[in-house]
Formats: sequence, structure tokens, C-alpha cells
Amino acid sequence: MKDDITQTNYHPEWQNNRIKFILEKYPKDFFKGKKILELAPFNGYIGSFFQKIGAEVTMAEGRQENIENIKRDYPQIKNISQKNLDTKDWDLGKFDVIINFGLFYHLQNFHKEHLKNCLDNCDLMFFETVVFDSDKPEIHFRRENGKDQSLTSVGGNPSTSWLHNFFDDYGCKYKKYSSSELNGGIHHYDWLDKNTRKLDCAARRFWIIEK
Ligand SMILES: C[S@@+](CC[C@H](N)C(=O)[O-])C[C@H]1O[C@@H](n2cnc3c(N)ncnc32)[C@H](O)[C@@H]1O
Repeated sequence: MKDDITQTNYHPEWQNNRIKFILEKYPKDFFKGKKILELAPFNGYIGSFFQKIGAEVTMAEGRQENIENIKRDYPQIKNISQKNLDTKDWDLGKFDVIINFGLFYHLQNFHKEHLKNCLDNCDLMFFETVVFDSDKPEIHFRRENGKDQSLTSVGGNPSTSWLHNFFDDYGCKYKKYSSSELNGGIHHYDWLDKNTRKLDCAARRFWIIEK
């Protein structure tokens, strides 16, 4: 593991801990030859790691400036395109695995369609998002801006039951993780559900979803 992880300036502990968490569940060999789609990679660090251990990685990112940085830093990533993923449409094709990290809560409009598109087009999804601490199935919207934020200036943060209702209706197998091993920098996964109905943008959860 140590030999394969390189350096990133973008939340290094957070990005590395999610990679390590996946590798605790799936051995490196599992990814050899797998077709992986990384959505909204921002700096390309996570997907590039999986390419380095033998996967065939495609990336789709909303901001062209981020794509230019990825092309500069990881020229070995050849399949990368600019896409607004807050859409009903899907033209990215089919994959063994989708890595869907740090994107969902930046969507403003098409949360259900986005998840359906992802699950229709992969066998396995690693999914990670900010979660709104509410007992109700709801999406909490907030204004945001920045080069790693929403494309529109509004992002919608789901509650756990909103997501679980969706997964149940879709009919996939899923497991939620709240492990402290995932924590990195400000990002934390091991918080308690208290129905505070206050948004903490660093309060996240992680799911492994299988079809
Ligand atoms: C917080 S960063 C996450 C980076 C990386 N996936 C991670 O989790 O470490 C959010 C990324 O989502 C991208 N993004 C936000 N809204 C998007 C959209 N509608 N379509 C495509 N990309 C989007 C941003 O440009 C940024 O690269």
C-alpha cells in the first residue's frame, strides 16, 4: 500500500483513508483489469491510484480547469471528459466499478436520476457523501461555491433515510459505513445520528453498493 500511494495536496489524509478503506475490503488484485469510472475526481488522485494498480480508469469531471490539472498531473489518464453529472442523461457507458465520492451533495436537481444512472451502469459502487442529520427522508439544500463545489451554487445534501429509501426502491444491496478509519482532516464519518437537522458539511457516510 505504502509504495502505491503518492502525494496529493488536496486533503491527503481524507483521500488516502478512503483508498485504504476500500483496500481493506477488496484486495488490490480485485481491481486488476476492472473498468472503473471515477466521477468528479477534482484532482484525479483517487482514480489514478486505481489505474496504477491495474484498473482501466475513466474520469468524468464537471470543471474543465480541474480536467486540465488532472491531465498535467496524471498524463497516464487518457479517458477523461467534461460532464455535468447533475442530469437525467448518461452517455458514459458501463463499468465494473464506479467511484462516486464527494459529488452527490453538490447536485441541485437530479439526485434520483443520477443514482439510478450510476447503478444501472455498474456492478459495484463506492459511494460517499455529506449526510444531513435528519430522521426524515429529505434533501437539505444550501448555497455553496468554489472550484471543488457545485456547478450551480446550490447543493442538495441527503439524509440517510432518503438514500436508504432510494436504495430499497431500486433493489440493490448496500452497506453503510461510519468508521473512524475513514476520517481525514475535517471530514468525519463516525458521528452519531441525532436528528439535529443542522448541516455539518464535514459529516459524511460511506456506502458500498452492489447490484
Ligand atoms: C469535493 S470535490 C470531491 C473530489 C473527490 N471526488 C474526492 O472525493 O476526494 C467535488 C468535485 O465535484 C465536482 N462537481 C460538482 N458538481 C458537479 C457536477 N454537477 N458535475 C460534475 N462534477 C461536479 C467538482 O468540480 C469537484 O471536482
